[in-house]
Amino acid sequence: MPKNSLSITDNRTGKTYELPVEQGAIKALDLRQIKASHDDFGLMTYDPGFTNTACCKSAITYIDGDKGILRYRGYPIEQLAEKSGFLEVAYLLVHGELPTTTRFAEWTFQITNHTFIHENIKHLLDAFRYDAHPMAVFVSTLAGLSTFYPEAHKIRDKEVRSRQVIRLIAKAATLAAFAHRKSVGMPYAYPDNDLSYAGNFLNMMFKTTETKYHPDPVLEKALDVLFILHADHEQNCSTNAMRGVGSSDVDPYSATAAAAAALYGPLHGGANESVLNMLREIGDVKRIPDYIKRVKAREFRLMGFGHRVYKNFDPRATIIKKVAYDVFEVTGKNPLIDIAVELERIALEDDFFISHKLYPNVDYYSGIIYEAMRFPVAMFPVMFAIGRMPGWMAQWEEMLEDPDHKIARPLQVYTGSEERKFVPIEKRK
Ligand code: CMC
Repeated sequence: MPKNSLSITDNRTGKTYELPVEQGAIKALDLRQIKASHDDFGLMTYDPGFTNTACCKSAITYIDGDKGILRYRGYPIEQLAEKSGFLEVAYLLVHGELPTTTRFAEWTFQITNHTFIHENIKHLLDAFRYDAHPMAVFVSTLAGLSTFYPEAHKIRDKEVRSRQVIRLIAKAATLAAFAHRKSVGMPYAYPDNDLSYAGNFLNMMFKTTETKYHPDPVLEKALDVLFILHADHEQNCSTNAMRGVGSSDVDPYSATAAAAAALYGPLHGGANESVLNMLREIGDVKRIPDYIKRVKAREFRLMGFGHRVYKNFDPRATIIKKVAYDVFEVTGKNPLIDIAVELERIALEDDFFISHKLYPNVDYYSGIIYEAMRFPVAMFPVMFAIGRMPGWMAQWEEMLEDPDHKIARPLQVYTGSEERKFVPIEKRK
């Protein structure tokens, strides 16, 4: 019997099957041969939320949730956050290697020179209500971009594809900032191509009457680090949406709109917004014990805590906590930090959180930093999406290049009624 195999005995029939094991996985389709009777469909797995199903092979991001390890293309997140920059990390994710000086200069030039958006996008923005949530606006304008670049449907053409990757990374920041300016009734601030990616985003968000906006270097660096920390996270909900929708061979703007929509949810990219609302609701360190009691009574969850993969600590949370203090040196302390630190301390000593392996995740401190930098709460998920864009692009291209890739089409375990006869409306009870 080969060593790299799994023997399964089906007790319904007494038959034994041998399935090959490759890289710690069996092929789900190998189970299909296991049938209870001749006309049986064959065995499948039931896995809501894909908690134990690998949907692809990927060489982009490695996570060891127990050890708190996160690496992009082999490089530890701590080193990238300290020594690299967002656009370099974006290149690494998309191209698989760190760029040479020449390639990096070209990449930066290309991204920087694709930051402008078609003027008609502004009319699209005008159509939204004055109080439209910027994330919903962001999702819609991303989808809208596909109407400006009809060539984008040629997803098998590598050159065409590369252009869309550059456009999406470049324009994400502009769409995001414009969504914000629209929501506060400010005139749009156009991209400034002399600035860094993060610096230009600050410019488009906050520029008022000055002829030239000069971002604070500490805040610019902090934002750059936050973008790096959010850049990819293997098969999370929004990346799964990117791959799932992209697997139909749709253009990348439509697939990215779907990914961003997935990110909007409070269990994913919307969590940092929920953390701030939670800290505000607590309002005072004295109310923390009562709040924890209610979490343990399962009235609600402690937002910014827990992760599907990290069961010891989220390495991104450790880096972010440090960034928070750098930012406060410039902005002054966000009073919510005291509540957050105390809430974290109490939760980490509590049996409920220890036994459930619940630790602060990336979103626990990011909202506090964003707020100190004057980003409105509604922009938090949008900022997450800007950071995640290179990851979505890398994962999308990897999927298209994968010879194993197929349109995503999961199965179901049917639990509805057997065939029955249609009853005319006058005879229904
Ligand atoms: N507060 C209280 N209890 C929790 C929490 C929490 N934040 N998270 C999980 N649990 C409990 C849950 O009640 C369950 O308990 P039991 O087994 O006794 O019924 C157990 O832990 C497992 O929970 P789960 O929902 O099955 O775990 P999951 O892996 O499906 O969910 C999660 C992961 C991130 C959705 C969840 O931890 C959560 O809802 N956290 C709060 C929202 C949040 O901070 N999301 C941001 C995630 S990081 C950013 C990103 O990558 O998107």
